[in-house]
Amino acid sequence: MTEDKKKMKNIGIITSGGDCGGLNAVIRGAAKAALMRGMRTFTIPNGYAGLYNLVNFDHLVELDEERTDHVNSQFAGSDAGHSRVKISKINDPDKYDRIMMGLRKHNLDGLVISGGDDTGSVVVDLSEHGIPCVHAPKTMDLDLQTYSVGGDSAINKIADIVDDLKTTGTTHNRIMVIEVFGRYAGHTAFRGGIAADADCILIPEVPVDFNAVYAHLKHYYIRRILNSDVHAGTYTIVVAEGVRGEDGKLFSDGGGKPADSFGHPKLAGAGLFVKEKLESMMREDPEIRQFMKTSGMYVPGVFEIPEIREVIPSHIVRSGATSAYDVNFGKQIGAAAVILLDEGVSGVTVTKMYDGKIRYMPTAEAIAQRFVGLETVSFYEQMDVCFGRFRQTYEPKLEEVHGAVERLYS
Ligand code: F6P
Repeated sequence: MTEDKKKMKNIGIITSGGDCGGLNAVIRGAAKAALMRGMRTFTIPNGYAGLYNLVNFDHLVELDEERTDHVNSQFAGSDAGHSRVKISKINDPDKYDRIMMGLRKHNLDGLVISGGDDTGSVVVDLSEHGIPCVHAPKTMDLDLQTYSVGGDSAINKIADIVDDLKTTGTTHNRIMVIEVFGRYAGHTAFRGGIAADADCILIPEVPVDFNAVYAHLKHYYIRRILNSDVHAGTYTIVVAEGVRGEDGKLFSDGGGKPADSFGHPKLAGAGLFVKEKLESMMREDPEIRQFMKTSGMYVPGVFEIPEIREVIPSHIVRSGATSAYDVNFGKQIGAAAVILLDEGVSGVTVTKMYDGKIRYMPTAEAIAQRFVGLETVSFYEQMDVCFGRFRQTYEPKLEEVHGAVERLYS
């Protein structure tokens, strides 16, 4: 983290990693704040690929008033484009010199870089190489120490998808398993599932005990159908893609796809794994056969156990529209990043505006991974949501607060 009072004139804007909601708000916030301070901003296209190849570009798109008007904050994705390129992995010993040449060629004095932990690790890297840059936190996975733009939009999408699937689930009396993005943290599965009244939420933080899931499923699913006057019901399970069993093994088989340049394997298949495991438990269970007969659904050789369907919304959860919260937060951190650069601060992550102050922290600290806390899991278990384990005792911890309490909008 450095603070030198050299004023900035021209700033490059990079968005990087997996796209999501709020990135255009970051771009717009940065561009507008720069214009108001008499500075100019330029788009560096396609994340770190563009930064590496900057030296080859004849010109960069300037975010002047007219061009900024075309950046719609409510559109998810990024006007600047993305790539999954890690600078330190580039097979070129002169890569930093090449980046410096590119920055000099386009007279760029500093960078606003929006991305997640991988992108942030490059911010640390570039800053240590003398390139002034400030990190605007972004990831739908929500696994940074700070809030990151895109999380709220993804949670809203997941909640809508999971809730919508209840109509088809109830019509066919199917158990619906929805596998969602989030990598090794369960924040978006957790919050999206809670928002949609999901019955069961499986997250990487809790190794899955299928006996617990099965007992919860049987209780709710059977009761719903038998108590319904038309014998209709569903049961909803949200599965985070990075979920593991009690043996510590990932349920994902990666779908045979190669890892990205940051070394992350593709995660795919957790939903199918859960579906197949529960189907095999139902097949072995005489009470399920009895339930099928009592509910009038049993048809020999055709319909002997309830159906389970797995749905993978995949990239849909980070596409389309941005939530109002993410637009507000995105503009805030984009503008704050420009102001920090102008004030000579580099190698930091904007955390938020709080009581009129721009808060920031060293990027190396901000990108330390954050997971769903098990006390939070126990708290929600008190509402009988199943998290893939038998419900544990929740020990209430109480705290009286005064004055400036945590607020979503400050
Ligand atoms: O990190 C964001 C994320 O959406 C993860 O949740 C997911 O595993 C990954 O990106 C998917 O990456 P890609 O868009 O490269 O397939």
